[in-house]
Amino acid sequence: MSDIRSLVRGCGAYLPSRALSNSELAQSVDTSDEWIVERTGIRQRHIAAEGEMTSDLACMAAGRALEAAGIDAGDIDLIVLATSTPDQTFPATATVVQARLGIRQGAAFDVQAVCSGFIYALAVADNFVKAGQAKRALVIGAETFSRILDWEDRGTCVLFGDGAGALVLEAAKSNGAAANRGVLSTHLHADGRHHDALYVDGGPSSTRTTGYLRMNGREVFRHAVTNLARVVDETLDANGLTAADIDWLVPHQANKRIIDSTARKLGLSSDKIVLTVDRHGNTSAASVPLALSEAVGDGRIQEGDLVLMEAMGGGFTWGAALARW
Ligand code: ACO
Repeated sequence: MSDIRSLVRGCGAYLPSRALSNSELAQSVDTSDEWIVERTGIRQRHIAAEGEMTSDLACMAAGRALEAAGIDAGDIDLIVLATSTPDQTFPATATVVQARLGIRQGAAFDVQAVCSGFIYALAVADNFVKAGQAKRALVIGAETFSRILDWEDRGTCVLFGDGAGALVLEAAKSNGAAANRGVLSTHLHADGRHHDALYVDGGPSSTRTTGYLRMNGREVFRHAVTNLARVVDETLDANGLTAADIDWLVPHQANKRIIDSTARKLGLSSDKIVLTVDRHGNTSAASVPLALSEAVGDGRIQEGDLVLMEAMGGGFTWGAALARW
């Protein structure tokens, strides 16, 4: 086992300035504030401005994370960016961010695991750090889902929003500064048989178009509650912990009912759960780091706290990460 740990040095987030409320949405789609709030807990979502791209949101969040960490961009030697809405088919949006931040060394690439993207990216970056291949990593989740929504499909367009969040990880000796702190474990899963429950009906190799998000909401809901509760149990078991040991659960913000059901299964009280879905909607790979940044920023998450993150998304993919702040 490696004697190196990834310490979380800082986090940051960015939301586009335009907030779109349910009532505004109900002027163009056959829906209502009441229906959306009751089924999802969402009250508004942020929408990127014309010409504002995933890389723009990512750069803002990354800049804020670096500032919070007190680390110069020039000291970053790895960027892992989770997104399903890259600026272009290639190159990776991570390389756009790298150039804009003035970083000239190390590796930069995207990870695509839809709503689980941030957990996947965190696991990848953590493993690079533990293997001694990176010293300081930027892990970013950034999305402009508004660009792949069918705004005439009320079953999906009311659920998602745009945003970005980022974490800075730094290598530290696990018997030194990082004793008991940093990323403790990550757990990833996928089951590609469920492709048809959540996908985008386009892509460079199939239709040569970008396509729109398609979803069987009930199917996603059913699997989400089961898979998330299971991966949280797996994470607790791997660390010899119980749910009572967790200071904060930072779940993927897809739907308040999924979060409540998962929490109920685990016996976690609601005051230990960071909730942003009401104001952000589902920002896919950005949702966990956005929620983390909010809870760190307002002082809820303190140094030494045990923070459990989890997510599930298209594929299906799902996973969890445990970190001591
Ligand atoms: N406004 C009003 N009515 C609507 C809307 C809307 N926005 N969307 C659907 N309806 C209607 C349907 O047309 C249907 O009407 P009908 O009975 O006349 O046919 C009725 O509401 C019920 O539709 P269902 O799809 O069965 O509604 P359900 O209770 O399953 O709720 C929802 C839908 C909210 C999407 C739910 O299934 C869900 O939350 N699923 C999880 C999906 C999710 O979170 N996906 C995010 C990506 S994956 C992830 O991040 C985990």
